[in-house]
Amino acid sequence: MSKEDISRRQFLNYTLTGVGGFMAAGMLMPMVRFALDPILKEGSDQKLVAVTSIEELSNEPKRFDFKIKQKDGWYESDVTQSAWVYKAKNGDIIALSPICKHLGCTVDWNTDPSHPNQFFCPCHLGRYTKDGTNVKGTAPLAPLDVYDSQVKDGKLYLGKAKPRKGA
Ligand code: FES
Repeated sequence: MSKEDISRRQFLNYTLTGVGGFMAAGMLMPMVRFALDPILKEGSDQKLVAVTSIEELSNEPKRFDFKIKQKDGWYESDVTQSAWVYKAKNGDIIALSPICKHLGCTVDWNTDPSHPNQFFCPCHLGRYTKDGTNVKGTAPLAPLDVYDSQVKDGKLYLGKAKPRKGA
């Protein structure tokens, strides 16, 4: 076997391997993408869920629990969420997430006697004003998340809780 034959054979091997690999990748990519798609897709299309009737609301924050359908990859489940909801002076309905922005404990309304009419987080004494703004000098560095909300036929619908900019 001459040196030229070997290099010709090698060239053929490399070419066939390259073309074969390219074709295999072309066939496998759609399958891999189909398999991973639910994981890579962001769950941003959360539907609004009816939480309460408008008559239930006052200017005092009240906690409401509601269930949403959550899709985690291929797994779908019912998840209970909570919101602190009240009517602002201008008539706007404010729906705040109860998840503390420090380390994720649950905040309560008006439970700290030395700081009335504030949201209070018992874990590290975090505080928020009524509109969810974090009180400076306490542990949380950002305001409470606010739910997307909509009023329809006398009912309050809530969607996804979204973060706001820190104080
Ligand atoms: S988790 Fe709320 S203050 Fe730390």
